[in-house]
Amino acid sequence: MKGLILSGGKGTRLYPLTYTNAKQLIPVANKPVLVRVIESIRDAGVDEIGIVIGQTGPQIKEAIGDGSRYGVQITYIPQDSPDGLAHAVKISKPFLGEDKFVMFLGDNVIQGGIGGLIRDFANSSWNSQIVLKEVENPSSYGVAKLREDGSIEQLIEKPKNPPSNLALVGIYMFDETIWEAVNSIAPSKRGEYEITDAIQWLITKGRSVFPHVHKGWWIDTGKPTDMLEANSLVLDELTPGIAPDAVVEGSQIDSRVVVEAGARIINSVVRGPTIIGENSVIENSFVGPFTSIYHHVTVQNCEIERSIVLEHASLGNISTRIQDSLIGRHATVQHSEGKPRSLKLNVGDHSNLWIV
Ligand code: DAU
Repeated sequence: MKGLILSGGKGTRLYPLTYTNAKQLIPVANKPVLVRVIESIRDAGVDEIGIVIGQTGPQIKEAIGDGSRYGVQITYIPQDSPDGLAHAVKISKPFLGEDKFVMFLGDNVIQGGIGGLIRDFANSSWNSQIVLKEVENPSSYGVAKLREDGSIEQLIEKPKNPPSNLALVGIYMFDETIWEAVNSIAPSKRGEYEITDAIQWLITKGRSVFPHVHKGWWIDTGKPTDMLEANSLVLDELTPGIAPDAVVEGSQIDSRVVVEAGARIINSVVRGPTIIGENSVIENSFVGPFTSIYHHVTVQNCEIERSIVLEHASLGNISTRIQDSLIGRHATVQHSEGKPRSLKLNVGDHSNLWIV
């Protein structure tokens, strides 16, 4: 069995963070979502993985390399334009051949592993297995309508009037019957070759598609609020620990905190679950809960809660607590001492600021 990760696309809903970087590289609890996806496929025993890349391909290649550091072998599959999930599958045929494969969307985070799912599929005669999850907002996803016996009656992509609350999770398993399906469908109203339509095609042609309903949590990290939610859920499950060379002085650190190598926490309170990244400095500040501070970040004289701060950002002397925030790479947020008391902004395109 081989693995296929879809990591192309534009990530417009996460602008401005994704203007210059791939959305799949944004870290959740200090580990990029894409790395989490690679590790779950590897932990299920699959080590030959293809990654479909688009415009942000160069950053993805730089971050992930040949996969050896994760114990897998990566093949990159360039997609000229983001023409849909089924299109991404279609162009991956030379890599996948006639093998069964598992496809994982590079922006999905799921609780628990996928080992059981892969074993079930490998030992079955199903042509495809899909993963479903009950959600409150099914219109944002592909949606499945099941029959009373649990088999799939219909799959629809982002329906206005969803026939159920069962969303398609971004994990799919296929055998060679998928090739005829992806070559038979037409583009959808939004102009994409939808994988949902290809699976519907399999169902219509009488192929066996098994729906597994996932019980743990699942997040599609498409929007900033989803990133923060995924971050909180993953932090909640992290094993705490303080790196031997981290410095903690005059500070109070909760039991559910991870402090990575070279970090320095001075005169501060860190409330878990929270992670402080490599070589970051927290001084005279209150951090957490549910906060991920990535590497080389400086936080001085601030309070920050339920937020993600990316690498090399710097926060200083802010009198209002920062919360539910995503702070980009190399961003600075500082209180200015000058008069008159005013806001001085140097804000990137598509940024959102909530000023109180
Ligand atoms: O997250 C689950 C949902 O993912 C499913 O419920 C939907 O049925 C499915 O269509 C998909 O919907 P999204 O609108 O969330 O897909 P998105 O455009 O965000 O793309 C998902 C991943 O695939 C993302 O990592 C980008 C990558 N991608 C996307 C397209 C359109 C590609 O690699 N190539 C593409 O052409």
